[in-house]
Amino acid sequence: MVEVLILYYSRSGRTRALAHWIAEGAESVQGASAKLRRGDYATVNDFIYCDAVAFGSPNYFGYMAGIMQDFFDKALSIREKVAGKLSLAFTSGGGASESALLSLESMISSFRMEKVIDGLVSQGEPSEENRKAYKKLGETLARRALEKTELPKGRSQARTKAENMHTDDSRKRLTCYGDRFSVESRRMYLQGQRALRIPSNSGVLI
Ligand SMILES: Cc1cc2nc3c(=O)[nH]c(=O)nc-3n(C[C@H](O)[C@H](O)[C@H](O)COP(=O)(O)O)c2cc1C
Repeated sequence: MVEVLILYYSRSGRTRALAHWIAEGAESVQGASAKLRRGDYATVNDFIYCDAVAFGSPNYFGYMAGIMQDFFDKALSIREKVAGKLSLAFTSGGGASESALLSLESMISSFRMEKVIDGLVSQGEPSEENRKAYKKLGETLARRALEKTELPKGRSQARTKAENMHTDDSRKRLTCYGDRFSVESRRMYLQGQRALRIPSNSGVLI
């Protein structure tokens, strides 16, 4: 299961509507779930433990909203933990808002994340036409996140064997992030290992 985080700010609801459509698109992909977080309530752990992230903001004077910038400022110390994460940006504005989009995309590059696709700008009230495009954005992000978490061919037989020993339920919760386990996955993995009484010196790679 991959988690797509949609981290956004919205004051009058337009960006929120776009964020919800992105979430809808992500959830339409089997094996993906979406988590919506407003910038002022999001934590750096939300950022660290997701598989992919979509950043959204209204255009404020040609830039992202201060709350979004504040979130990035707070996340500076965990920059290394999110490097390489799949991401994209979206904005809503009264007029043309490419510069606000660029401000979000410049954060994607400053944090050395991977931009999956060019972001979208919505002008004025979001329309049905927007809905399709933003759903597609969420879907694309979720699909790419799923592809990235697939085990590379020929990767550790020992790990795969150990994973197969887990029940379906615990396997669902055990998410392998590309080529390595996240701290959270490692913790869950060890819990599962203890429950199954796999000796720690069994040679299983984690
Ligand atoms: C403080 C402030 C500054 C804004 N600056 C711009 C701007 O420079 N260009 C623009 O097109 N819209 C600007 N807007 C309009 C918002 O970007 C636009 O209404 C947006 O769709 C609101 O999104 P929301 O409903 O998610 O809050 C500004 C709005 C506010 C409140």
